[in-house]
Amino acid sequence: MGRKKVTVAGSGHVGATVAQKIAERELADVVLIDILPGVPQGKALDMAESSPLERFNMGLVGTNDYADTAGSDMVVITAGLARKPGMSRDDLAAKNAEIVGGVASQAFRHSPGAMFLVVTNPMDVMTYVVAEVTGLPKSRVFGMGGVLDSARFSTFVSRELNVSVENVHTFVLGGHGDLMLPMARYSTVAGVPLPELIPADRLEAIIRRTRDGGAEIVNLLQSGSAYYAPGAAVAEMVEAVFKDKKKILPCAAHLAGQYGFEGVYTGVPAKLGAGGVESIVEIPLSPDEKKAFAASVAAVRDGVGRLGDVLAKLKSTKGQSA
Ligand code: 2OP
Repeated sequence: MGRKKVTVAGSGHVGATVAQKIAERELADVVLIDILPGVPQGKALDMAESSPLERFNMGLVGTNDYADTAGSDMVVITAGLARKPGMSRDDLAAKNAEIVGGVASQAFRHSPGAMFLVVTNPMDVMTYVVAEVTGLPKSRVFGMGGVLDSARFSTFVSRELNVSVENVHTFVLGGHGDLMLPMARYSTVAGVPLPELIPADRLEAIIRRTRDGGAEIVNLLQSGSAYYAPGAAVAEMVEAVFKDKKKILPCAAHLAGQYGFEGVYTGVPAKLGAGGVESIVEIPLSPDEKKAFAASVAAVRDGVGRLGDVLAKLKSTKGQSA
């Protein structure tokens, strides 16, 4: 079996960090692509020059030409504008839909057998755009959000209890947005549910901080948004697929009746393996949780709805070069 090939579209902090983590973990050869001349080439060369020191043996190239991405097994889309302080993920939607839709259709023409992993915000909406623009089976298009959100949740729990992050398993449901649901009763430390370990008010504060985790970083950085944890979250998902781990991770996956929703992408526990999203795990929800989940799904649907013309235009130019 030959090596896997991953195209990472967008050579900003997130794209570059994704490329670095995939190469360092020897998951695949990486092609970093961007419209900016020189930037993907420079970052990829710099990373490649770290390989004798980090001891990894993967190809890493940067390009502005989609021909170089041909035959990719996975396309990770990070291209787009980042959030600025005070800006919601939805504010970005129309602009990023054009960017992401263009990237997806060009990448798809060169790699029709690839899976697409979407990172650009508003992520659940952008994942829907990529599924529409490529027309791929929905199991082959998914988004990164829940792995990042639950990593943040786990970090805060580990700090609160002064225990290893390896003991902590947390779970976040719903869209990667302000209405996400960090699910304390399904989150555990060494098998013990969080509500048994952390007083309710502290737990509520941790849940709030998780929900605002992206904005916390944006406000600290003042320019740009998070990239180390997002990069690690993408690598975790790529590894689950390429190693056919059948690992259950919270991903933006297409719902076709699960949880009572149809035709929408949102964060749910999904089994990731060689087939992409191989199945969606349905967990029992309380009436309050159902209501909160429905609100989160509605926010994603609204985001898609507000794209209106942009989405129709993208679909009509599908397959043509941008
Ligand atoms: C994050 O959660 C900005 O959505 C991005 O860090």
